[in-house]
Amino acid sequence: ELQFFFPQEHTLALIKPAAVKEHKDDIMQKVKDAGFTISKIKEAALTREMATQFYKDHEGKPFFEPLVTCMTTGPSVIMILTKENAVEEWRQLMGPTDPEIAKVTSPESIQAQFAQDILSNAVHGSSNKEHALRSIECVFGEIDID
Ligand code: TYD
Repeated sequence: ELQFFFPQEHTLALIKPAAVKEHKDDIMQKVKDAGFTISKIKEAALTREMATQFYKDHEGKPFFEPLVTCMTTGPSVIMILTKENAVEEWRQLMGPTDPEIAKVTSPESIQAQFAQDILSNAVHGSSNKEHALRSIECVFGEIDID
């Protein structure tokens, strides 16, 4: 099996509430076209605790409270994506956090095509493997992933 040579990695990916309403199908298509395996998926509103875990590094910044509110207002699509180098590749497909920058530097990226603005952008992804493991555990509990 190819997987023997190319070890699989997992990342936590999330379609945020505003984008779930408008662009869920288009974003799911891009995920599949990029060759990710969707190992787990559920649609649920994040709790404050989960949102705080995802964005721990931003606690205390001026946009932190608006960010947590924005993330907990409605259901998100929460996924474990699996692929070789999944953390980095999902970040690439997401594109830059600020859609105005994304439109210039990465017009094919998800933020360029589907984000409203920097706060209500379209997707989230873990920034490194350790964050990915902790976020996956926070959302899905301790699980065996295929
Ligand atoms: P960040 O972790 O920098 O980006 P990413 O989600 O791409 O890893 O920021 C997390 C979220 O915080 C981002 O999706 C939207 C919000 N945010 C703002 O609203 N304003 C800002 O200036 C930044 C940097 C982030």
